[in-house]
Amino acid sequence: MSTEFVDNDRKPVGYGRMLRKEDPRFVRGKGRFIDDVQLPGMLHLALLRAPIAHGRILGVDTTAAEAHPKVKLVVTGAMLAERGLAWMPTMSGDVQAVLATDKVRFQGQEVAFVVAEDRYAARDALELIDVEYEQLPAVANVRTALDPAAPVIRDDLAGKTDNHCFDWETGDRAATEAAFADADVVVSQDMVYPRVHPAPLETCGAVADYDAVDGGLTLWCTTQAPHAHRTLYALVSGLPEHMIRVISPDIGGGFGNKVPIYPGYVCAIVASLLTGEPVKWTEDRSENLTSTAFARDYIMHGELAATRDGRILAIRTRVLADHGAFNGVAAPTNYPAGFFGVFTGSYDIRAAYCAMTAVYTNKAPGGVAYSCSFRITEAVYLIERLVDCLAFELELDPVELRLANLLRPEQFPYTTRTGWVYDSGNYEATLREALRIADYDGLRREQRDKRARGELMGIGVSFFTEAVGAGPRRDMDIMGLGMADGAELRVHPTGKAVLRVSCQTQGQGHETTFAQIVAEEIGIPPADIKVVHGDTDQTPFGLGTYGSRSTSVSGAAAAMVARKVRDKARLIASAMLEISVADLVWDKGSFAVVGDPTSCVTIQDIAMHAHGTGELPDGVEGSLEAQVHYNPENLTYPNGAYICVVDVDPDTAVVTVRRFVAVDDCGTRINPMIIEGQVHRGLTDGVGMALMEMIAFDDDGNCLSGSLMDYLLPSALEVPDWQTGFTVTPSPHHPIGAKGVGESATVGSPPAVVNAVMDALKPYGLRHADMPLTPSRLWEAMRGNPQPP
Ligand code: CDP
Repeated sequence: MSTEFVDNDRKPVGYGRMLRKEDPRFVRGKGRFIDDVQLPGMLHLALLRAPIAHGRILGVDTTAAEAHPKVKLVVTGAMLAERGLAWMPTMSGDVQAVLATDKVRFQGQEVAFVVAEDRYAARDALELIDVEYEQLPAVANVRTALDPAAPVIRDDLAGKTDNHCFDWETGDRAATEAAFADADVVVSQDMVYPRVHPAPLETCGAVADYDAVDGGLTLWCTTQAPHAHRTLYALVSGLPEHMIRVISPDIGGGFGNKVPIYPGYVCAIVASLLTGEPVKWTEDRSENLTSTAFARDYIMHGELAATRDGRILAIRTRVLADHGAFNGVAAPTNYPAGFFGVFTGSYDIRAAYCAMTAVYTNKAPGGVAYSCSFRITEAVYLIERLVDCLAFELELDPVELRLANLLRPEQFPYTTRTGWVYDSGNYEATLREALRIADYDGLRREQRDKRARGELMGIGVSFFTEAVGAGPRRDMDIMGLGMADGAELRVHPTGKAVLRVSCQTQGQGHETTFAQIVAEEIGIPPADIKVVHGDTDQTPFGLGTYGSRSTSVSGAAAAMVARKVRDKARLIASAMLEISVADLVWDKGSFAVVGDPTSCVTIQDIAMHAHGTGELPDGVEGSLEAQVHYNPENLTYPNGAYICVVDVDPDTAVVTVRRFVAVDDCGTRINPMIIEGQVHRGLTDGVGMALMEMIAFDDDGNCLSGSLMDYLLPSALEVPDWQTGFTVTPSPHHPIGAKGVGESATVGSPPAVVNAVMDALKPYGLRHADMPLTPSRLWEAMRGNPQPP
């Protein structure tokens, strides 16, 4: 790692490596997470969850639980129904049970809650609740969910006679069929992107504190989108929005898991309203893994049409999407399949078509954007695996095939066949940089030698384009709330500043990078700029942090608000220096008279003047502050080239990821150290999904992955020393040219790992095996017995 860190103290630096301002508090154990919130008289809530995946509730007896000496309150679905609170809207316009009233629809569903004096008593009392179920057959297999004989899961929806959730299509079917008819070669491949879980280190939780005297509700909550949550609570509960304060304190990772509203949050609010005391709810690990939002779960059939010399003509895909028992997807309203529409990837493809069917199953709800922008991970996996399948059939080098089909710089802005407008990119340069770092030719030579000795070495390449920064208000909203973000900047008299933003960090380092953005624009050192977020009473309205949207949207707002302050500072400087605005020159941190650099005023001088008693220009009010609301013109499209090198043990089928080269292009780089950290995390995610992670179910819908013993996450032992590189192609429409990067590596790395493993197994004639490529699954595949996913 490079050692050229910028000075963390007083230098007026902007972009560059800088240690994270937030880390001193984290490394000293001074972070303040939900479970650190302690309030006088606070009670504790525990949720009773369904032991079966599908069953009618015949009766709930809470008598014994209520008699527990430490229990204050027991609430069932029927009690919530009396208050009209048994159901809540999901972020995709479906409804979800807060507590089950009629049926339970997935194992782990919330059935009742207990509020007690302490956490242990609340948990103990759950055992005293007696629920009588009539077990119903469960729909655990997505492929048979639409069979006429399948039990109807969502009989709460009027007129529902099957498990169909939605259909969606994009692209031009006729043009795609014509392109396929003309093709020399067609490759088709079935592939599964298994259900995985974001599994943040900190599970979900909330502390609700309702003040019956002033009617105000304060909710500390693990949310990635505090403002959106507050508005939804106001709409559902009828509490006035200005009396609801949502505080999202330090968050131990979100990765999309903390975007939806969970029944636990609502139950904590109800419990505080009913008891008049603050109430805390904290999930345990199994609850988090089995009941909160999963990701992926797409069964895809993909086809590529190409010429014999490797020119890709068209792509076509059918997708069967498992949405669980309630459609808990959090994606812009117009995008029921998220941003899967970018499935043409990074290639110049003439025709594309996708048809998708989503179904309900007896599994936990979700379909969240786990470290990706709304289903792009699935799209990138589809195209990058298909390109490798084509290379396999045509016996072409996968790099050569990609180079022949990648979009060229002069094609940007590029409109895909499905209507997305990629802003900028120099894909060939990015791929060539990865090849250079990896010494691709040397790797292929090494592989030839090893193959000759019977060793299984694989080299996998992927190229991805992400679409981040949702999004333009004209067509992107969550539940009717436009996806724009605000920023407020206040420069105090002594030249220190506070930036308030509507996004919410979960560990990405915003307190550092957002200060750097402002520092770059107005020359106040990052150390002198405090970044405030995660509190609806303290920050401007905005839609939060997910889909790597913070830098693309709130980061743009931060730059714009700093420029607004600088414009005002320029007017004040002209009064201070008694010279016209046109004769002033800005030099990061001060305005000087053109041609006379000694006649200058610093931003700190200007701040003091703005708050003091001196003359201000006509029409300029005292103080030095501004506010903006930024509506992005387009998404930003970061991209990257990844190369993975694996060794597969021919006897045990254990995969070792030996090397991984990741070259990312996220436009202007604010803090390269933080970018590297983000990329390292995402690459680790990718290795996990490719090799070990899957939320599995048995035929009765029992979740088999309810602990970290069963749901394997990668550790430092399973990942190599990452090698990162970069190219810089600024976004033309973003104020500082930055594109998001937080989730790029999660999106781009799984196909690189799978491509590498399949490359290693070429001697076995294998073209595809489904993730996770566990030793048993690979071992069977190597022996010609692929395991069903
Ligand atoms: O929305 P989220 O913060 O998860 O993702 P992001 O906007 O991609 O940012 C992740 C982190 O990387 C933040 O601290 C960003 O400011 C930083 N970043 C950067 O330094 N330069 C970029 N071009 C993009 C992000």
